[in-house]
Amino acid sequence: MKDVILTGIKPTGTIHLGNYLGAIVPTLELVKNHDGQSFIFIADYHALTTLRDKKLMAQYSREVACAWLACGLDPKKVVFYRQSDVPEIFELFTIINNVTPKGLMDRAHAFKAAKEDGKEEKVNMGLYNYPILMSADILIANAKYVPVGADQKQHVEIAADIGKAFNALFGNILSIPEPIIKKEVGVIMGLDGRKMSKSYGNIIPLFCPENELLKCIKRITTDSTAPNEPKDRNHMIFQLYKQFAGSDLDNKIGWGDAKQKLFGAINAVISPMREKYNTLMQSGEVEKILSDGSVRARTVARETLSRVKAAVGV
Ligand code: TRP
Repeated sequence: MKDVILTGIKPTGTIHLGNYLGAIVPTLELVKNHDGQSFIFIADYHALTTLRDKKLMAQYSREVACAWLACGLDPKKVVFYRQSDVPEIFELFTIINNVTPKGLMDRAHAFKAAKEDGKEEKVNMGLYNYPILMSADILIANAKYVPVGADQKQHVEIAADIGKAFNALFGNILSIPEPIIKKEVGVIMGLDGRKMSKSYGNIIPLFCPENELLKCIKRITTDSTAPNEPKDRNHMIFQLYKQFAGSDLDNKIGWGDAKQKLFGAINAVISPMREKYNTLMQSGEVEKILSDGSVRARTVARETLSRVKAAVGV
């Protein structure tokens, strides 16, 4: 069997330029050059640890799915599905709970951070068990390679530990995954110069209308360096320009002109995708794609689950 690549996307907000450069582009690149099977899924039950609004849940899941498709995810090549459509994941989750030491969850960074913050009592079990559910996502598909950001590395290592613990008890049943840490494109800064993140409210949405994109770019904080004076090349305007245009912007340009150029560079890349995104958002096509994907994912998932159940004796 050829090696399987798998990754999950948590639908917790509108897709922004940071997601595009940091996750979508590198993942699609990896998948394009991979000749084995690839699985990419919307991790909606993972979002449930924090997202408690049915409208937003449905909206973000749909937006995220359409965004990845618009950016070039080919659903013929990639098995693309929604986690909640594959119930076998949750059966495997229940089984592997029993080979997971509590200490492993105590050391998982999200829980540990909450505990150190004095919030242990308030942590919901979805957050506490998050790494086990993520392990089930990975193990059910026999994934070998799991491309993730550096913040998710520990979770993939936990999945490997859980897989090994299961195999040690029940025989060589599960494939042991390893993380592929996506190359840092550098921190993508937001409008205010901090890391671009929806929690800071400083994002540039990937697929907002053109005029809004321009407005957003005009809001990027700059300093008082005059036109013709050299500017800080690490400023996000120069960084983003380089990412989108593939070349450097003259750093003696005035900030106003730099913003116009940046808009041009981003818009040139994004416009055809935006059009595709808008078409997808208005049609029922994405539902059909995800439902076909879940049929394919379940074929693999059922096979893994029946091996696991037979090994356990249920
Ligand atoms: N936890 C990941 C994140 O927050 C999303 C995710 C869920 C995932 N299940 C996965 C990633 C399985 C890789 C493999 O980004």
